[in-house]
Amino acid sequence: MKFIFALFCLSPLLAEQPITRLACGSCYKAHRDKGIFKTIAAEQAQLFLFMGDNIYGDSEDEEVMREKYRQLNAQPDYAAFKEQVPVLATWDDHDYGRNDAGRDFTFKESSARLFFEAFDFPQDHEARKSPGIYHSKILGPTGKRLQLIFLDTRSFRSPLIQVKKNRRKTYLPQKSPEATMLGKAQWAWLASELQKPADLRLIISSVQILATDHRFEKWANLPNERARFFKLLRDLNVGPTVLLSGDRHLGEVARLFHHQCGLPFDLYELTSSGMTHAGAPEDPWAGRIPNTYTKHINYGLIDITWTGKKPIVSLSLKSFKGEVQSSTIVDFHEQAQVK
Ligand SMILES: [Fe+2]
Repeated sequence: MKFIFALFCLSPLLAEQPITRLACGSCYKAHRDKGIFKTIAAEQAQLFLFMGDNIYGDSEDEEVMREKYRQLNAQPDYAAFKEQVPVLATWDDHDYGRNDAGRDFTFKESSARLFFEAFDFPQDHEARKSPGIYHSKILGPTGKRLQLIFLDTRSFRSPLIQVKKNRRKTYLPQKSPEATMLGKAQWAWLASELQKPADLRLIISSVQILATDHRFEKWANLPNERARFFKLLRDLNVGPTVLLSGDRHLGEVARLFHHQCGLPFDLYELTSSGMTHAGAPEDPWAGRIPNTYTKHINYGLIDITWTGKKPIVSLSLKSFKGEVQSSTIVDFHEQAQVK
């Protein structure tokens, strides 16, 4: 806890060190953990990104939520891990309080307070000053600056359309111009963040941004917002950017080609979900990079090479034991030449 606190307090110090390795993961039940944080600790990552469903609170009772966070922070491997490795987090529906919930969830303020407490956000942290939990961080020296943008896909998200198709609950695209994923204030904040100088940006969204085909939560359920996201990246000429997500109880890497998103590079998304429970089926879809799907318990490892003019990013999915399930190289030198 001391060290996490130190990340916020000593950011000028850490800001001087290039970040070359991060680990990430999502969907974690402390009582089902058989030691994944021991495996991740061995990676010697400089940061860990908790990408949502960090607890399965699922309650409108503040005490229940608080107890679940207590169980997380008391899990022995995680407690030891976070003494060594700073943890930064966003949330998803289960730590927000209700499955697939959006802006109408009544208890979002108490959930946010508990989230900030559990992840040691200082009392004067910028994220605490406005509704929601979105926040960002820039680490590393000029030329090697890594920006981490943690989106809040819960607090402002308008209602979705859900139907039963073949007796399975399925979300349909909500195309109303009022429909929103991030809400007005967070969109404005994101635009201002994307104008800050950075050499690589990682944008963390609990729910998948690129996925289009599956029936669960995804940005594609709000197609205007998804299009707006790509337009914002284009308009602000954001430079090297990679997306990260969780939620799905599977691992995969997706790619949206430059000619599809209009950016001067292909947009990649690493989804790592299921640190203690996984197994979602391999529904085929065109955006997935072949052989990156895993149904097994997984975490993500992101290695960044800063030696060239642009970053080279390796996106790996690793098993409970630390075995590489897939590795995808995103070289922004090549990317920049793509026309
Ligand atoms: Fe989950």
